[in-house]
Amino acid sequence: MGANIIGIGSYVPERILTNADLEKLVDTSDEWIVTRTGIKERRICPEDKAASDLGTEAARRAIADAGIEAGKIEMIICATITGDMVFPSTACIIQNNLGIENVPCFDISAACSGFIYGLEIARNLIDTGRYNKILVVAAECMSRVTDYTDRSTCVLLGDGSAAVVIERTEDRFGILDTYLGAAGKFGNLLYVPAGGSRMPATHRTVEEKMHFMKMEGSSLFRIAVVAMGEAVKKVLERNGFETKDVSLIIPHQANIRIIQGVARMLDVPMDRVFLNIEKYGNMSAASVGVALDEAVKAKKINKGNLLCMVSFGAGLTWAANIIRWGKDG
Ligand code: ACO
Repeated sequence: MGANIIGIGSYVPERILTNADLEKLVDTSDEWIVTRTGIKERRICPEDKAASDLGTEAARRAIADAGIEAGKIEMIICATITGDMVFPSTACIIQNNLGIENVPCFDISAACSGFIYGLEIARNLIDTGRYNKILVVAAECMSRVTDYTDRSTCVLLGDGSAAVVIERTEDRFGILDTYLGAAGKFGNLLYVPAGGSRMPATHRTVEEKMHFMKMEGSSLFRIAVVAMGEAVKKVLERNGFETKDVSLIIPHQANIRIIQGVARMLDVPMDRVFLNIEKYGNMSAASVGVALDEAVKAKKINKGNLLCMVSFGAGLTWAANIIRWGKDG
């Protein structure tokens, strides 16, 4: 039994924040941002919208692409670290928006690795035989936890969403395997200090900008290259594949230099690595999902191709999967 992706969709908000816009907010330059990160612009969620709105739109597109009624969905998993509220889950809000009744819905928190974690959870639940169709959504409003006075983080992040419908299949198509990793000991490299039970929001936490993301970029950079490269190697090796068997690698879009480092480590040419970082920056869990959708729409992926998605994020967490693409173009 397998878990095949039968529908895919993504959605990014219309508002574009360019490097020129950021030059007006902090001491930075288009030249620095492009050469150090590869990012030219990113999308920003409107004030009256939230992660669930972005996720709902991506989900509608994925369900339409699957050619099914929303009522056929049997579970909703939402990967997010910028959910609408502490509770209820963003997955439940998306369920209500979609008009789906009485199916299990929950969020997972694995930061940028969340979409690949979510796909793996869905694959294993399908494997139990209990579920036939699961909706996995990644929805992030990173702009809401970004300090636009901190040049070391604000140039990196953007908002967006992606979704897939996964269905049980008897064929050897779909998600074949996933390698998941985490290292809580590095949690202090990337976190939002306030707003949780350790440091509930107060006037002081807001004044001191503790509800914004804090990051140690250069330490993360080094760990990311090795963790992503190793994750790809492990998932390929244990399934008897080599990098030459992979048609397209879809990496997390955090920094073009991280992606190039991973490609070098794997000895994979950059023309087999999908990039859209310059348009969106880092959309956390949504990045690999939006990249997968754009690669499919650009016909860079054909039925039967072997793909590898790989990501890395706060936790720290990392994940790589292999997918035998089983959907007609
Ligand atoms: N514009 C101009 N200068 C800047 C900027 C900026 N936007 N940001 C930093 N600098 C300066 C620094 O102040 C420093 O100056 P100094 O030498 O005078 O002190 C200099 O540039 C170099 O800084 P570094 O931090 O060493 O620069 P680096 O090459 O490492 O790039 C970056 C920084 C882009 C943050 C990089 O480290 C990176 O991408 N790290 C990984 C980020 C990541 O992957 N995060 C995880 C995912 S996010 C998630 O999970 C939600």
